[in-house]
Amino acid sequence: MSKRFYITTAIDYVNGQPHLGHAYEKIITDVIARARRSLGQEVFFLTGLDEHGQKVHQAAQAEKKSPQDYCDALAADWQAFVKKLELTNDDFVRTTQPRHKEFVQATLSKLNDAGHFYKASYTGYYSIKEETFLTEKDRLPDGKFDASYGEVVELKEENYFFKLGAHQQWLIDYIEENPDFVTPSYRRNEVLGFLKNNTLEDLCISRPVARLNWGIPIPFDKDYVTFVWFDALVNYTSIAHAHARLGLWPADIHVIGKDIVKFHAVYWPIMLKAMGLPLPKQILVHGWWQKDGAKISKSTGNVVDPIAVINEWGLDAFRFYVLRELDIGPDGNWTDAGFRSRYQAELGNGLGNLVNRSLSMLKRYRNGVVPARSNELAADADKAADETRALFKQSQLQAALQSIWSLVNRANKYVDETAPFKLAKDPAQAQRLDEVLYNLAESCRVLAVLLNPFLPGTSAKIYAQLGLTGAPDKLADATWGGLQAGHTIGEPAPLFPRKDV
Ligand code: MSP
Repeated sequence: MSKRFYITTAIDYVNGQPHLGHAYEKIITDVIARARRSLGQEVFFLTGLDEHGQKVHQAAQAEKKSPQDYCDALAADWQAFVKKLELTNDDFVRTTQPRHKEFVQATLSKLNDAGHFYKASYTGYYSIKEETFLTEKDRLPDGKFDASYGEVVELKEENYFFKLGAHQQWLIDYIEENPDFVTPSYRRNEVLGFLKNNTLEDLCISRPVARLNWGIPIPFDKDYVTFVWFDALVNYTSIAHAHARLGLWPADIHVIGKDIVKFHAVYWPIMLKAMGLPLPKQILVHGWWQKDGAKISKSTGNVVDPIAVINEWGLDAFRFYVLRELDIGPDGNWTDAGFRSRYQAELGNGLGNLVNRSLSMLKRYRNGVVPARSNELAADADKAADETRALFKQSQLQAALQSIWSLVNRANKYVDETAPFKLAKDPAQAQRLDEVLYNLAESCRVLAVLLNPFLPGTSAKIYAQLGLTGAPDKLADATWGGLQAGHTIGEPAPLFPRKDV
């Protein structure tokens, strides 16, 4: 049996409520997880929260709460969010959990014993917002640091450093030999460009307790806590370890946003090498969403509230828009008009109308009883199924939706071409009507299976309206001819009701 497919999202800072960007990353990861299960693989899907570090500490202080109380309250909201998105995650990590903290400490001790760390004094410019030391190279031509770094202060302190530099050439070779390790390829090229044109500085992995106490204590020096990124990255392995009998490591895919590539494609591989662990198979990098062409920002009010959209339009409409609008890689732009237009055209008039008229006609003209098999749309359905299967293996979700919609459009065109409502008026055309009705109903069934990872609720509704028991969650069932003659379907009902706005 093949190894369980292990897929992760980044773990989000708990310093506010989830927004569109977080929802997007979780949905793509969920679709890939569901797609792999549909392909017959066993999957483990991990998401969770990054609770330590200065950002979270400051947010807690602003609310006059202890960091742990602050995190506990927000964690409940984030866990409810995961439910709202109907994610099929198998675990939810919080970095304040003992199972994670103990693993991080064991890792630190092991690396320290093996000589990967040293203590040194460092003077530098520190960005509180980005929790990172800046170098002269980070200065703008006018000598200042970019506003995105927030407040920058000069600090001199002793800290522990991880010897990254020693592994630079090894990492370059690894990325060159493994072209799919960082995907899409333009992100891989950025990483290679960075590695080839810069000398890697050693990574500061501690913070003095005197400055920041909200972190995992360094096991061999009580005056220090662990740098939040070292702590956070280790979640992928601490949770794999917590489920040791499943043999999860190495991960198959880490899904992350473009802003944290360096942590995942440079620091993390080197940390793993030092830990003696194999590298994840792939870092899959998605782009960032804007709204109306501008940065999403709470302070300017330029936001999309995923929960409000889901409450108004339904979860599947939200999932569909973000997946169909934006391929995994480039940046995207949310517009309310674009959302409504995809809802109406592709979901309402496309998929919804196809299913509703196909099943309603079967009900009206044949009392809901499936006629004998006919294969007129079989080739179109097989093509969509074959393409979808191949695209799922490549995590090409937008392309898979395009392929699936070629079947939706073909079947809708077939209704127009064959005009079943006319055939129904002519008793001599009864057999032709049977053929048309079979092709339409069976196309709907195949679509339910193909769409299942993307639109799980809609897919289940189509199956129920077809009167089928069991779940449409195995791609193998997207084979033409599944509907049996004589089977009676259920009740048709609109999938995407028209909305007047
Ligand atoms: N805590 C770190 C990740 C540690 S992973 C070991 C972090 N957290 S975050 O909350 O700032 O971001 C979490 C994820 O959300 C990142 O992958 C980030 O790229 C993604 N996004 C945040 N804003 C986004 C958009 N506007 N659009 C798309 N994704 C965005 O970084």
